[in-house]
Amino acid sequence: MLWAPYDADTYALVLREIRPADVVIDIGAGDFRLVTQMAGIAHTVYGVEIHSGLMPPAHQTPANVVAINADARQWPFPDDITTAVLLMRHCSHFSTYYQKLKTTGCKKLITNARWRMGVEVIDLRQPAIEYRHCPMGWYACQCGQVGFKPGPVELYSWADDQHTYEVANCPNCMKTKKANQHYEIVKEDRRSELSTMKQWVNQ
Ligand SMILES: C[S@@+](CC[C@H](N)C(=O)[O-])C[C@H]1O[C@@H](n2cnc3c(N)ncnc32)[C@H](O)[C@@H]1O
Repeated sequence: MLWAPYDADTYALVLREIRPADVVIDIGAGDFRLVTQMAGIAHTVYGVEIHSGLMPPAHQTPANVVAINADARQWPFPDDITTAVLLMRHCSHFSTYYQKLKTTGCKKLITNARWRMGVEVIDLRQPAIEYRHCPMGWYACQCGQVGFKPGPVELYSWADDQHTYEVANCPNCMKTKKANQHYEIVKEDRRSELSTMKQWVNQ
């Protein structure tokens, strides 16, 4: 089983964002070492881990920890979550988690999954701007993509460089949407070909 914990500095960045009233979910909890530390601060911590071999014995988990052995993509998130933690640099399902958390009303997502370095805190209540309305500069999208929207360099300042726009429908989203549409068209074509062949065989 392949998993490696993060360092103490990364955990410190997460822990400083946790408040006593928080109901936290750790998506991909590993061996629950961060869950246990967060449980020392928060009201409740849900730890969701896909690998059963990493689940802690029930008698070793603090009373305010709920340990779930499940695939976090499918497991329905409880609607009392206030803060989510996603420490997974190679995550390829960021948008799934982002949408699920928004739907439950979770306020904050602490993650390294988008920039894949350091830790960012995303305010999930903040509305995203459409990529096409986003000015030149750094952006991070709800789909997990990050990048720099180009523009005239003479209009760009050091202050602009310190800001990241939270966007929706970035070029990567459009590419995925187009690919999905193409896939649906091909699927539909195959379906109708198959049905024509069946009719032909049955004649
Ligand atoms: C890099 S580790 C982070 C562990 C923990 N959050 C920490 O910081 O100590 C990521 C964990 O996510 C788990 N994981 C990956 N995909 C998952 C999924 N779909 N559902 C639940 N857990 C998952 C992996 O098994 C691994 O233990």
